[in-house]
Amino acid sequence: MKLNIALLAGDGIGPEVIDQAVKVSDAIAKKYNHQISWKPALTGAAAIDAVGEPYPDDTHEVCANADAVLFGAIGHPRFDNDPSAKVRPEQGLLKMRQKLGLFANVRPTFTFPSLIDKSPLKRDRIEGTDLIILRELTGGVYFGKRGREDNGNTAYDTMTYTRAEIQRLAKKGFEMAMARSKKLCCVDKANVLESSRLWRETVQAMEKDYPEVEVSYEFVDAVAMRLVQWPKAYDVIITENLFGDILTDEASVISGSMGLMPSASVGEKTKLYEPIHGSYPQAAGKDIANPLATVLSAAMLFEDFGLQQEADDIRRVVNKSLAEGVVTEDLSEGGKSYKTSEVGNWLAENL
Ligand code: IPM
Ligand code: MN
Repeated sequence: MKLNIALLAGDGIGPEVIDQAVKVSDAIAKKYNHQISWKPALTGAAAIDAVGEPYPDDTHEVCANADAVLFGAIGHPRFDNDPSAKVRPEQGLLKMRQKLGLFANVRPTFTFPSLIDKSPLKRDRIEGTDLIILRELTGGVYFGKRGREDNGNTAYDTMTYTRAEIQRLAKKGFEMAMARSKKLCCVDKANVLESSRLWRETVQAMEKDYPEVEVSYEFVDAVAMRLVQWPKAYDVIITENLFGDILTDEASVISGSMGLMPSASVGEKTKLYEPIHGSYPQAAGKDIANPLATVLSAAMLFEDFGLQQEADDIRRVVNKSLAEGVVTEDLSEGGKSYKTSEVGNWLAENL
């Protein structure tokens, strides 16, 4: 297969983890005789420095014309403590999601056999966890009307959803549930928020089209608690943008490290694959960041192109590296740790 992949390394540890995903993907391509052509493009703070904006048109062009996008991370501390900054790296990510129509973010949570005891949660609670949080990605409070009033002394952000936005996300959730254990949980705050009541009403109306799917409705505050208490109670979760942002960080604790969890963003056009972690600026340039979330994001990419063996091979070699202790310092617990690049090399060689 010929694959044209836009490569957006972004900021912080982005370039380092992306390098390892490229090594691993190239090794897979060699093994199975695929041709991957990587198309690097600027995004985030790096793009602000170069051309003054975090998701330049040229970058969009590259993404829109690619078969898929592999993305590192975005964000730079220079902007975090400057509330007056007009352009921010994160705006690039939001613009990219919006312009590529990436309305659904698929964030799986699963455990790794050799890491179960690295999680701060008890083994019997988490062993066997296998759930997917399907986060709405181009609506809600991230994209609603926001502003200041009262001479800047009052601020507001609006959580807005249309029925159509909820339907297209929920449809993916129902389809995913059908392909898995036929259990779907809609997470909202319908006891307080009008937008959540529209979510519930919309999903309820869709239930009749999927009679085999058992649907439950839970409030986000309760799910925040139950997710780490009884993660095995969940299979497919659908939720709005901000709730999904928060719950997926929380869910990553189940696997033992944020450096492990991949994601795929899908929608109308090109799909995008990225780790759920951020740019981790404290580690940038030190060759210590965990590359596995990005490597596993590449596995999701191959799987979506029907290359199941390729994806399985990547997951197998990742599990092997964990079992043999070829891990970065976040997972080494004071024992021997490997550099980001060494883990990447090891994975590529062991494929
Ligand atoms: C994520 C990140 C982004 C988000 C930030 C960087 C804007 O936290 O992908 O989860 O909030 O969506
Ligand atoms: Mn987040």
